[in-house]
Amino acid sequence: MYAFSNAVNSMHSEDIKLLMKQASGKSMISFAGGMPNIDLFPVKQIDDIYNSLPENTKKLCFQYGPTSGYPPLINSLQNYLAKKGIPVNDSKILITTGSLQAISIITQEFINEGDIILTENPCFVGALSVFETFGAELHSIPIDKDGIDIKALKHKIASLEKTPKFLYVTPNYHNPAGIIYSPERKKELLEVLSGTGIILLEDDAYSDLYFNEDEKHLTKSMKSYGVKDVDIIYTGSFSKILGPGFRLGYMVSSQEIFEKAEIIKQALDACTSNFMQILGNEFLEQHKLESYLKFLRSEYLERKNLLQKYLETYLPKEISWNEPKGGFYIWLKLPARIKSTDIFKESIANGVVFVTGRTFDPAGIKDDRLRLCFSNMPKESIEKGVIILSEAIKKVLRNSKTTIEN
Ligand SMILES: Cc1ncc(COP(=O)(O)O)c(C=O)c1O
Repeated sequence: MYAFSNAVNSMHSEDIKLLMKQASGKSMISFAGGMPNIDLFPVKQIDDIYNSLPENTKKLCFQYGPTSGYPPLINSLQNYLAKKGIPVNDSKILITTGSLQAISIITQEFINEGDIILTENPCFVGALSVFETFGAELHSIPIDKDGIDIKALKHKIASLEKTPKFLYVTPNYHNPAGIIYSPERKKELLEVLSGTGIILLEDDAYSDLYFNEDEKHLTKSMKSYGVKDVDIIYTGSFSKILGPGFRLGYMVSSQEIFEKAEIIKQALDACTSNFMQILGNEFLEQHKLESYLKFLRSEYLERKNLLQKYLETYLPKEISWNEPKGGFYIWLKLPARIKSTDIFKESIANGVVFVTGRTFDPAGIKDDRLRLCFSNMPKESIEKGVIILSEAIKKVLRNSKTTIEN
């Protein structure tokens, strides 16, 4: 028996372990892990970039770098973020090892055991696991198709005895709910937080993956709204646009928050891989990102359309969902009498996996939803996967009727 710390008892970390295992299981049709498509990675572009680097830059790839990040990458990132309206001149950028590390650093920076974090419900499970690891007290607020429930948020803030340290949200192509916040909802959210001292942690991992050019403006981040009386920490990632193997993310914050974050990062891993930062920087600097993103958007749109079509064809009418406008996920809503965990048992036995609703509930209970990820799915497997899933749902629905009748 070891005397393990409280930190290792995070409830959601087991879910994540299982998820990663299922996502990489070869024989399964997997709607599970939120992964980019393995056949779409820019392998050739990265080959060319590395091969054409000057010898000195190649050597630098193998070296340690500054904790805050490889300076040319910070510069390219400033240009990329400025195009999104992020106030890069008034903020500091810290390059992190994936944006999950940024979330972890921010949590370490602000959270003592028992401090309150507000989250959405449902919430990205990776963030939940970090928050639990640092002993935060989590309070979750429901979301609907347009974003966080403003009334519930106001009510929650008013009912708490302590001021929450921050509110964590994923406004663009939410993981797992697939929704995008409406501009009105983003504005209302900022109004509610205004003057409360609650920091807004805005996680923006998916905003480049919109399906329709006309809707690009909807991805405008709250960090770019120019609001002065809400402190916003913005996090982003290269994982969904270049590949999670790069482990490249970043956080944009005030100077004061940046300075403490840099100290924490120094102790964590000294710096993010120079190798990956140099390759990522060249991708941006050589203007390869925009054309690659165009290609990705059309590929993911095609997969979403196929999944949408087969869900409409095969699923029982009691199942509903909002069609996503970008990102990786469709979030099915089940009738209240059945649980996604029961469907999961049935469906995995027949070769299809997804992620159960309760995985994304901070309390680990609410189970009337399930997440389907369409990004890493071979197009030709989608129909078969939906048929198996649909049969599993029908069986659980039939069983629930018999149970009620008995
Ligand atoms: C909402 C959200 N934020 C952050 C991340 C973490 O991404 P990474 O650490 O790979 O940058 C993910 C990954 O699935 C995500 O879905």
